[in-house]
Amino acid sequence: MKLWGGRFTKETNQLVHNFNESLSFDQKFYRQDIRGSIAHVKMLAKQGILTEQDRDDIIRGLESILEDLDNGKLVISSDSGYEDIHSFVEGTLTERIGEAGKRLHTGRSRNDQVALDMKLYTRDEIDAIEALVKELLEELLAVMEKNTDTFMPGFTHLQKAQPITLAHHMGAYFEMFSRDRSRLKDIRRRMNYCPLGSGALAGTTYPLDREYTAELLGFDGPTLNSMDSVADRDYLIELLSALSIISMHLSRFCEEIIIWNTNEYRFVEIDDSYSTGSSIMPQKKNPDIAELIRGKSGRVYGALVSMLTTMKGIPLAYNKDMQEDKELTFDAIDTVKGCLALFTGMISSMSFRKEVM
Ligand code: ARG
Repeated sequence: MKLWGGRFTKETNQLVHNFNESLSFDQKFYRQDIRGSIAHVKMLAKQGILTEQDRDDIIRGLESILEDLDNGKLVISSDSGYEDIHSFVEGTLTERIGEAGKRLHTGRSRNDQVALDMKLYTRDEIDAIEALVKELLEELLAVMEKNTDTFMPGFTHLQKAQPITLAHHMGAYFEMFSRDRSRLKDIRRRMNYCPLGSGALAGTTYPLDREYTAELLGFDGPTLNSMDSVADRDYLIELLSALSIISMHLSRFCEEIIIWNTNEYRFVEIDDSYSTGSSIMPQKKNPDIAELIRGKSGRVYGALVSMLTTMKGIPLAYNKDMQEDKELTFDAIDTVKGCLALFTGMISSMSFRKEVM
């Protein structure tokens, strides 16, 4: 009975840990976590809450952790026992510099810390996605400039309707992706306020300088309501929505390329490097990459619906449900980045059969 009980408790605890932990995925933003902590201790020292000695020791410790994680000397292993990236960094810091490491978290909660990390991460990714959309726009513009005299049928109901140029057709997608780009910029502007200093939900009695940390981290200012600051995931929903629209545009474009690539149309020739063959039917050249990009839209929409559903019943302020924001946002971001890069490559290597068109 005792043995059973002991073993049962242990196994349950391990299961609880595995279910509860986020280190396996929130390690993705260790750089942002460390960056946020460095700004936080600079502010604490400026306000006289931490000594300059503590500040310098903590910053040196954090920089050494960052360097070791970057070059692989320090590895985040899931059986380290740490629950999340915040406790991993703080624990490693305390191992390295001693007691001062524990003072890093003065005037801060993991609730405002994770809100900050996720915002910093998302902001970096928005910039990266915007750059990929810009590359696609440049590629489309190049195709348009070369094809102002390339005539082709314009379709309605997938029936030949009126003559158009290839430039005109490409220009329609140019408009769609231009709107996508401006949506990303809007989201970045609206989300760019710093939640740090909100504490768990109601701030702290320490005389923090929230304007200062906001400025150090490149925000337009601090957020205004501490409860909203730790509970707001609107910017992720907006981003997932913008990513869903990008995916929808890519999917429509891919569908056209798939049609144009058929033997019946033969408008385009997808480069060998972006298609695959069949072992049994040598006449085939399959537009796999276009089909995969079309298919991946489903998983990006899924992330948007998951996030909306997760958020809809959560009372103020922070609740653990919100930890679910990470994996699905990361997956949607990585998926769309991959799709954009591959799509641009496919377009730039694709040739148009002007005579057939
Ligand atoms: N891993 C948590 C998350 O992603 C961090 C915040 C934890 N806060 C807490 N009160 N347990 O949401």
